Amino acid sequence: SFINFTFLPKYISFFIQGIEYTLLVSIVSVLIAVIPALILALMRLSKNWFIRSLSGIYIAVFRSTPLLVQLALVYYGVFNFIKIPSYHLFGFINLAMFIPGVVALALNSAAYVAEIFRAGILAVDSGQNEAARSLGLSAGMSMAYVVLPQAIKNILPALANEVVTMVKESSILSTLGMVELMWAAKTVSATTYITIGPYVLAALMYFCINYPASKVIEVIERRMRRGDKR
Ligand code: ARG
Repeated sequence: SFINFTFLPKYISFFIQGIEYTLLVSIVSVLIAVIPALILALMRLSKNWFIRSLSGIYIAVFRSTPLLVQLALVYYGVFNFIKIPSYHLFGFINLAMFIPGVVALALNSAAYVAEIFRAGILAVDSGQNEAARSLGLSAGMSMAYVVLPQAIKNILPALANEVVTMVKESSILSTLGMVELMWAAKTVSATTYITIGPYVLAALMYFCINYPASKVIEVIERRMRRGDKR
């Protein structure tokens, strides 16, 4: 046939392992990014010029430089000084590679998620904060108990979309030999001399994860918004 898939019986396990690595690294990275992102978003909304600027600089730097460059700096720079023992999780996830990968993706994602949080917080009517403050809540309590719980419905779908983005962006980890889905395609292509098939399979696998995921997110987003129309 036109596209050669004869590598499948022998190499399908590479792809299964690859998609598992891809999903794990993406979900873990976004989950870790949430903490610095919330801090960055709150800093961004601060009344203090200096605090606002610090966060603004972080976001600007990580959104205006390529993830590929950030990954190289984290891997060869930061983790040149922090030596992680090569311990394997589930037999195929080498922490000496996985951790720098997660750190680079999370640092990058934090800049984007910070903007998700900021937009989510700003989307809550300012009257909510004013009412809470006038009832005697401190600025922090008002944020934690009144504004953030309402911001969640704007934030959660955007956060899920960020995971979909990271599932695609994590393909960049293959450049440093992290054994995710794109690496599986490259390796199978190089060892079998089959050029198109492995990449078509990788594309299909990315699609079968991300397309249904975005559809589900769309539905949840619509349902969450329904609560607003009262
Ligand atoms: N492709 C972009 C780059 O090379 C990375 C975008 C990351 N996006 C995100 N939502 N985390 O810089």
